[in-house]
Amino acid sequence: MSTKKIQSCLVLFMVLMRFSNPFDPVDAAEAFYAFGDSFVTTGNGGYMGPPYGMTWPGYPGGRASDGRNQADYFAELFGVPYPTPYSQLQNASESKAGVNFAQGGAGVTYAFGYTPLDTQVDQMEALVQSGALSKLHLGKSVSLVSLGVNDYGSHNAYGTFKESEYATEMKTTVTTVVDGIALNLARLHSLGFRNIIVANLASMSCSPYITVQSKYTSCSRNASLAFETLNHNLLLEQRVKLLNRQLRGAHFVIVNQTKAFEHIFHHGSQYGFEDALTPCCTGINDSYVLNCGHTDSEGRPLYKVCADVAKSVIFDGIHPTQAAWKVVIDLYVSVPGFTALGPPLHSWIKLHHV
Ligand SMILES: *[C@@H]1O[C@H](CO)[C@@H](O)[C@H](O)[C@H]1NC(C)=O
Ligand SMILES: *[C@@H]1O[C@H](CO)[C@@H](O)[C@H](O)[C@H]1NC(C)=O
Ligand SMILES: *[C@@H]1O[C@H](CO)[C@@H](O)[C@H](O)[C@H]1NC(C)=O
Ligand SMILES: *[C@@H]1O[C@H](CO)[C@@H](O)[C@H](O)[C@H]1NC(C)=O
Repeated sequence: MSTKKIQSCLVLFMVLMRFSNPFDPVDAAEAFYAFGDSFVTTGNGGYMGPPYGMTWPGYPGGRASDGRNQADYFAELFGVPYPTPYSQLQNASESKAGVNFAQGGAGVTYAFGYTPLDTQVDQMEALVQSGALSKLHLGKSVSLVSLGVNDYGSHNAYGTFKESEYATEMKTTVTTVVDGIALNLARLHSLGFRNIIVANLASMSCSPYITVQSKYTSCSRNASLAFETLNHNLLLEQRVKLLNRQLRGAHFVIVNQTKAFEHIFHHGSQYGFEDALTPCCTGINDSYVLNCGHTDSEGRPLYKVCADVAKSVIFDGIHPTQAAWKVVIDLYVSVPGFTALGPPLHSWIKLHHV
């Protein structure tokens, strides 16, 4: 065959590949890199004392949970080490095995004042610029971007706007948050990432810090929370879809976190959860209602822990238990309808630790 013929065959082959199989499996991930908030962090500041970590590792391990969270389960899924929290890296070359940049309280905007997504990606960029991480390596790795709740949380807590301007104002906020996520997805792509899992918004309306008002009897019907969630998720889907089309080799999948948690809040008993809306660790009385982990000046707990944490969806006022994360990841992995823009993760990735 002439060189020309080989070339045109190659192009045809590539075109066919692209159209026949737009979501080739991410085979043999080399490492896992995570960005986000307290639903993702495995320890970048903000010490959380006992009972955090009580199920695993048996002591407070930097996670806002009784045990493992999604960052751990995703790493297990890809058969790679748990990513090292950025603040605990010994040296840049250690970052090859995976890094968790997430920090509790973080958002896209400055939200509650914790390391925002932009800065987390700056930290990643610096590691690439130092030469410790190659584009090739990142191209064969998987990344997770999961945050947004703190942006709306701080906005709802501190925002001042007239009721009549609410919808317009909120749409602007949603655009700011989602465009911030999209911009950073494009930055991660330019650093070499191709395989990125993007989580949509964590459920707010069924979370104990909201349902405490009804003594955890029902999810809130607050229209603002529903409005924020709906619009955030719709815009995020549009933006990520566009990035998949525009960025070369982009292989981004959305995990429908809102749906996964709402599913287990409403069908918890199917998975062995009892009273799915009630948190496991709460304050000793109404003056310390959401104070899991707090102690008085003499170190006495101002909290109490339920008898069997594996039967709770939420550990403290906000954060899922290890048991809940396990179920949520299983839904993403094998149940159609819990991912968008890509298949359930078992076909999105190629599991190599059968
Ligand atoms: C980086 O730190 C790790 C973990 O402490 C260590 O095993 C490794 O030898 C260090 N590498 C370099 C290049 O210093
Ligand atoms: C709904 O939630 C928002 C944000 O938390 C709050 O400002 C508002 O007062 C709530 N609305 C109602 C009707 O409870
Ligand atoms: C996520 O699930 C909800 C149903 O809970 C659905 O309305 C929405 O379209 C889903 N989002 C995506 C991106 O698939
Ligand atoms: C809650 O417990 C603390 C510490 O024992 C006590 O000082 C406080 O009065 C209690 N508050 C209520 C509302 O029972």
